[in-house]
Amino acid sequence: MLGGRLLLRLCYYYDMVVVSVDRDKCIGCGLCTGTCSECFEMGGDNIARAIKNKCDTCDLKEIADACPVSAITVK
Ligand code: F3S
Repeated sequence: MLGGRLLLRLCYYYDMVVVSVDRDKCIGCGLCTGTCSECFEMGGDNIARAIKNKCDTCDLKEIADACPVSAITVK
């Protein structure tokens, strides 16, 4: 928990973006992984996870907005 807060503060300080998927919300629809496989991957449990925080080929905010259950956070 403390590590996560520290990471967020550092990212804010350095103007970095952090992308995360809420495992409790994700229903495994595959929209994010299908849109950008460089940034998201599907786990064996059919729950997506973010693997990059920055991408030159997709709009992470747009993908987050398109997630049907709002499981993706871009901070
Ligand atoms: Fe899950 Fe949303 Fe992606 S439901 S598979 S995080 S688009």
